[in-house]
Amino acid sequence: MKQHYDVIIIGGGVIGCSIAFQLSKRDYRVLIVEKDSLGGKASGAAAGMLGAQAELEKNNPLFPIAKESRAMFPGLAEELRSLTGIDIELLQSGILKIARTNEEAAEFKDIAAFQRKLHKVDHHQVTVSKSTSEVAQWLTPEKIVQQEQALSENLSGGLWMPEDGQVNPPLLTKAYAQAAAVLGTKVMEYTAVQGLVIEYNCVVGVKTGTETIFADEVIVAAGAWSEQLLNNTGLKLDSYPVKGECFSVRHHGQLITSSIFSTSCYIVPKVGGQIIIGATQKPHTFDETVSLNSLSRLMEDAVSIIPALKETKWEKAWAGVRPQTGDGLPYLGRHPRLGRLSLAAGHYRNGILLAPITGLLMADLMGGSEIDSVFRTDRMLTQKGGST
Ligand code: FAD
Ligand code: GLY
Repeated sequence: MKQHYDVIIIGGGVIGCSIAFQLSKRDYRVLIVEKDSLGGKASGAAAGMLGAQAELEKNNPLFPIAKESRAMFPGLAEELRSLTGIDIELLQSGILKIARTNEEAAEFKDIAAFQRKLHKVDHHQVTVSKSTSEVAQWLTPEKIVQQEQALSENLSGGLWMPEDGQVNPPLLTKAYAQAAAVLGTKVMEYTAVQGLVIEYNCVVGVKTGTETIFADEVIVAAGAWSEQLLNNTGLKLDSYPVKGECFSVRHHGQLITSSIFSTSCYIVPKVGGQIIIGATQKPHTFDETVSLNSLSRLMEDAVSIIPALKETKWEKAWAGVRPQTGDGLPYLGRHPRLGRLSLAAGHYRNGILLAPITGLLMADLMGGSEIDSVFRTDRMLTQKGGST
């Protein structure tokens, strides 16, 4: 029998699963088609920081929606727990961005001032709870060691961002997928979409190795692999993969309370004693192996920040492929030429953080709303004056 859905989502990473969840809440009949296992690619490799302030800093068009997405996590955690019983391990325990040189210290003080100013402006527009000074605070070298006693005394201070936090990315993706399934979403794992079915300039379905499945709308949420799926649609994305390698150790007590972020590495203490240390950035490769060279560089950096990491127990190492774009912004919106086809990809280092807002925006898009044009799918071609 001919299978027909309201929406087919290609890709079962955190982005596809978040969109499925939001659409299912609005009673769309949704199918996720995933070539591997749900959350088996970048979404399963992430450290899980919700670094709206630590990662995006200033003047980035993503900053406002990143803060909005971050603010959605407490409600989302409750909603997902009540639908699935899964705890996404949300910790609202802040990120401390440490400076290692006087130049970095000056730069981070500047970022703190910018973020506080922005918060003041927000404060006039909406009621926000935190006072301006609490949002982004510069801490001297003495103060950071008072706050996190395991930190080396050779650091130049740090930018404390208490509103940033973290979750467990594999559990977040699983909870999204299960919640969507509870609400009616169907899932096909280990099934690659091999092509789009196009009729009269509209996408009407997808082809897998064994069948054709039809839908009113198709959304490509295939992370770093999205560009391949759009071959032959007249839209060439400006995107590329960026490999990230990480490792984890275990510690019996609590070595640090918040995530420690530096320009060369980050150290993220998870629920239950795991500590994740990441991550490399190697552009233009889909390779997912981990090199000893990368691990030894990350270890050296991490130990110079927290010497006691030397005493922790080795757990494991892994790699994932981040989806990056030419201008660093995700593609969120409709295909410029083909009807009934949309795209949500290119979240680079912040797909976990941006998953809640992306799910909402894409569900709104299916309902007829528009998404801010800075994210539109043909923006780079327009900027370059090229054609699709
Ligand atoms: P993916 O998770 O890669 O999902 C895409 C899915 O599409 C895959 O499962 C793939 O199998 C599937 N697919 C591809 N082609 C097809 C096809 N033809 N048919 C069917 N399915 C297909 N973000 C944060 O916010 N905080 C962090 O701390 C953080 N840390 C990170 C650390 C590392 C080491 C890495 C690698 C990433 C990190 N990120 C972090 C970034 C984050 O992981 C990504 O931005 C996010 O996971 C992207 O989600 P996605 O669903 O778009 O992609
Ligand atoms: N956001 C952390 C990373 O992508 O490595």
